[in-house]
Amino acid sequence: MSIVYLNDAYLPMVEAKISPMDRGFLFGDGIYEVVPSYNGQMIGFAPHIDRMNNGMEAVGIELGWSHQQWKNVCDNLIEKNGSGNLSLYLHVSRGADTKRFHAYPEDVEPTVFAFAFEIPPEPVADKSKVVGYKVATSRDLRWERCQIKSTALLGNVMHFQHGYQQGANETLLYNERNELTEASACNAYIVKNGVVITPPLDNQILPGITRHILLDLLRKDGSISVEERAVTMDEVFDADEVWVTSSSKEVVPVVEVDGKPVNHGKIGDVWLVAQTIYSAGKLNY
Ligand code: PDD
Repeated sequence: MSIVYLNDAYLPMVEAKISPMDRGFLFGDGIYEVVPSYNGQMIGFAPHIDRMNNGMEAVGIELGWSHQQWKNVCDNLIEKNGSGNLSLYLHVSRGADTKRFHAYPEDVEPTVFAFAFEIPPEPVADKSKVVGYKVATSRDLRWERCQIKSTALLGNVMHFQHGYQQGANETLLYNERNELTEASACNAYIVKNGVVITPPLDNQILPGITRHILLDLLRKDGSISVEERAVTMDEVFDADEVWVTSSSKEVVPVVEVDGKPVNHGKIGDVWLVAQTIYSAGKLNY
């Protein structure tokens, strides 16, 4: 479980080396993705690669790989690391320069790094098996380009740590208008009177692939209404259910926000329907 890909080569993780002058290392100047895979079957591969291409375009990193090139790397890593339950971490930095200078260098090849790591088995739509999250909250102090999946994650890391050090699984973030943005490494949702409500796509949140798949599946199914609109933190504390989503966790029910129980600390019925729909449809993306 430790064969990685680095710049055209597959090698043991301990042998993978990059230059300390790599701009990913010096500036966090890179774009990344995390794609879940269960028994060799990736979830949302194409939208993940599309999002990475959008991020590279936004920051002017020119790699020019096709989906098939990425697919080959992912398939090889899956094969070399024993399939099972894996996430594929894909990372493109602007590359290694000879000096530390902020402007984008010319004639520098991007550094491409990818590895597979083990993740828990596929989440199941079962109230008795899912473990609800306890979350903290914090004013969102990250930059105003959160739609870019940048490797510069110190803001997210500090927000995650804020919750982690008080025993929380995640930290919900809110902007200066007291509106929910997302969580430090997940998108966020509330459920009120049977309606699933999540903040709209803008510069304050990552356009999550799980979010995209979930909303698309819910709309196609039609049994639960979905709204994309601003959500205040008052609404979060008054919600019937709160969820967070990310690729390997899928839809996670939140049972406590800042020590206050959500839905009396019980897993909600709408979560059960949503995760059931997600589990049934996710392989089509
Ligand atoms: N995190 N928002 C943020 C800030 C994230 O970092 C993530 C994912 C998401 C959910 O996106 P998706 O559904 O595409 O996984 C939302 C990844 C998994 C990470 O950094 O490890």
